[in-house]
Amino acid sequence: MSNASLLLLLKTGLYVTTGSLCCQLLLFFIWLSSFQDVVAVQTVFDPSHASSVAELGLANPPTTGFFNPIEISPAVIPNYPNPADEPSQPMYPNFPTRYEPVLTGKCPVNFSTISSVIEKTATDCFQPLAAILGNVMCCPQFSSLIRIFQGLYSFNSDKLVLQNSVANDCFKDIISILASRGANSSVPTLCSINSSNLTGGSCPVKDINAFEKTVNTSSLVEACTTVDPLKECCRPICQHAIADAALRISGKQLMMNENKNLVGELNYTDTLSDCKGVVFSYLSRKLSSDAANTAFRILSACKVNKGTVFKYLYN
Ligand SMILES: *[C@@H]1O[C@H](CO)[C@@H](O)[C@H](O)[C@H]1NC(C)=O
Ligand SMILES: *[C@@H]1O[C@H](CO)[C@@H](O)[C@H](O)[C@H]1NC(C)=O
Ligand SMILES: *[C@@H]1O[C@H](CO)[C@@H](O)[C@H](O)[C@H]1NC(C)=O
Ligand SMILES: *[C@@H]1O[C@H](CO)[C@@H](O)[C@H](O)[C@H]1NC(C)=O
Ligand SMILES: *[C@@H]1O[C@H](CO)[C@@H](O)[C@H](O)[C@H]1NC(C)=O
Ligand SMILES: *[C@@H]1O[C@H](CO)[C@@H](O)[C@H](O)[C@H]1NC(C)=O
Repeated sequence: MSNASLLLLLKTGLYVTTGSLCCQLLLFFIWLSSFQDVVAVQTVFDPSHASSVAELGLANPPTTGFFNPIEISPAVIPNYPNPADEPSQPMYPNFPTRYEPVLTGKCPVNFSTISSVIEKTATDCFQPLAAILGNVMCCPQFSSLIRIFQGLYSFNSDKLVLQNSVANDCFKDIISILASRGANSSVPTLCSINSSNLTGGSCPVKDINAFEKTVNTSSLVEACTTVDPLKECCRPICQHAIADAALRISGKQLMMNENKNLVGELNYTDTLSDCKGVVFSYLSRKLSSDAANTAFRILSACKVNKGTVFKYLYN
């Protein structure tokens, strides 16, 4: 993608038009996807135009309804992911160096099978940028990694989740590996994700047999195998399938039918959220890690858009 068309795309994505709700969402999504490319094509940016990351405007959306194209100082952009391609003289001396992480040795998983997802997470959660881009890039990718990891861990067993103790060790290992690749190690705090997210929490269904008895898995997998980035946010197909599956395994569907007024029942929400984690774990077993990552990122992007763009557009 050329510099000019990239900027145009960014600008289009950031322009808050007066179109329909869905269109704005789509535009924002296009921007979101293109942002990944920006990081990749960092060198096309003229440093003299570079502004500080604080001016990204993500945290404090302008009230005028207009954004300038995002410009990132090359000094804060990670030059990942392929160290072999790097010139022998580092372009920017302040990059964290990769090192061999120290692992607990108690997490029986071959992390290299999901190395591409790990690399992507480390890049999206690159230290200084993590806090600023948290909700937009880092946290969606980090939660996707957690879900994919859960599927990987359980791949050869009949459990869909981890036991508490091993969840702690594996979570530590994940953070150590990410940190060794330059990610900010406070990502769990930043994204409100901890080892409990690997355990299925209060969800009553945690093993594959019970899951497959309760959920129409073929329609679930079908709905989420290829998530259409342009349609999913407007007409959620995979999200509905996940919510439906989570509702079923939560065992609360009857209650829901009888009593629509569930607001305030806090532990119901928790159970439903824990059960969603179990559904994601099941999907991760059924999809390749790259397909799962793409799908999960798209779902997060829809949620992020609702949470940020819409909040101030319609307030
Ligand atoms: C881990 O997975 C990688 C790639 O999938 C493979 O090359 C490697 O041999 C595996 N290591 C072990 C110890 O199984
Ligand atoms: C990691 O992110 C935190 C905010 O969550 C920030 O305060 C800290 O400076 C970052 N660490 C590095 C090394 O940039
Ligand atoms: C992690 O757990 C917290 C609290 O239980 C929940 O709010 C959050 O959505 C979970 N995140 C993921 C990625 O499962
Ligand atoms: C994880 O966070 C939740 C709240 O989000 C908390 O209830 C739980 O105790 C935490 N688990 C661990 C192992 O720290
Ligand atoms: C599962 O859903 C598919 C449609 O996606 C349907 O054809 C099939 O009959 C369903 N199976 C069960 C057991 O309900
Ligand atoms: C769920 O909430 C009810 C009150 O609404 C409470 O009595 C019960 O102990 C809670 N259960 C759990 C597991 O937190």
